[in-house]
Amino acid sequence: MNTRSVAVTALGSYLPPRIMTNDELATIVDTSDQWIFSHTGIKSRHIADGQTASAMAIKATENLLERYPINPKTIDGVIIATATADYPGFPSTANIVSQHFGTTGGAFDLGAGCAGFIYALEVARSMILSGSLKNALVIGSETLSSIIDWTDRNTCVLFGDGAAALFLETSEKPGLHPALLKSEAAMAESLTVDPKRKVITMDGRGVYNFAVRAIGEIIVDLAQKHELSLADLDWIVPHQANQRIIAATSKRYEIPEEKFYMNIKNVANTSAASIPLALAQMAEEGLLHDGQNIMLVGFGAGLTYGGSVITWQQS
Ligand code: ACO
Repeated sequence: MNTRSVAVTALGSYLPPRIMTNDELATIVDTSDQWIFSHTGIKSRHIADGQTASAMAIKATENLLERYPINPKTIDGVIIATATADYPGFPSTANIVSQHFGTTGGAFDLGAGCAGFIYALEVARSMILSGSLKNALVIGSETLSSIIDWTDRNTCVLFGDGAAALFLETSEKPGLHPALLKSEAAMAESLTVDPKRKVITMDGRGVYNFAVRAIGEIIVDLAQKHELSLADLDWIVPHQANQRIIAATSKRYEIPEEKFYMNIKNVANTSAASIPLALAQMAEEGLLHDGQNIMLVGFGAGLTYGGSVITWQQS
């Protein structure tokens, strides 16, 4: 009996009600639905409209608590992956969520760009295994619309807002396996937030080429690390940045495109929230079953990248 594993036992999500379509964007910048959809796979995105990352994280957690019989007072750690924290210093977004639900364990934000959720999962897994946390709420929450240059058609069409939460606790069955975390700081300048204007600036083509290579590398190396073949993977859940990045990765690394779960069409790129939002949507669609091997792959600013494998066990 393996009592030293950590499983994901609950999920919740929140997408703000305001939807911005490509057609609406085309009234703001010189673009079109046809260009955006054909270059990215995106049709629309949700916009926080003034809601903060903590407000959306609270709503995602409330959604989780409505669906699963978890007493919020028993939640120990709160870890939030975000690049759009409510405040630049303190309190952390996680502190605000912790205060709302009355949790008393460790609460902190973690920043690793769009790969942040993979890093946060690994930190939570390690802290639970070491005994420093009993369990943890791991949340990705982003208000990217607040750091977008709405006059720059190269970036403003790509991003959206949202939040999703996963509850992690010890399990006697296999769950999360050790992650693979990597970074390539030499490319940091290709995706950054302009310190003066506080908006995202990006070398789109450079990031695109990096992403295709990074996703492929993580899939191959992580499968090898856990002695899994591609056939052993039921799903690959990539960071939702661009449908064409996934198509190119699939072709270059000969991985069937159907293995990749994509929901970018209606949510766009929600940075650290994208992987948990995809998982929550998969759960809603009845796609997650006990025993499946699900590989999560993130990449983004830093440049950071990484992946995790979950052997799904919810019951
Ligand atoms: N509408 C219309 N035309 C546009 C738009 C737009 N929204 N954006 C760019 N163009 C134009 C360009 O100006 C260029 O015109 P030109 O040839 O006259 O100069 C033309 O389209 C082609 O531009 P490219 O940059 O070569 O287009 P590309 O095919 O590379 O697609 C894109 C651009 C979608 C940004 C792509 O490079 C990409 O997805 N890169 C990765 C970006 C990404 O995923 N970033 C985030 C990852 S990490 C994170 O999530 C934070």
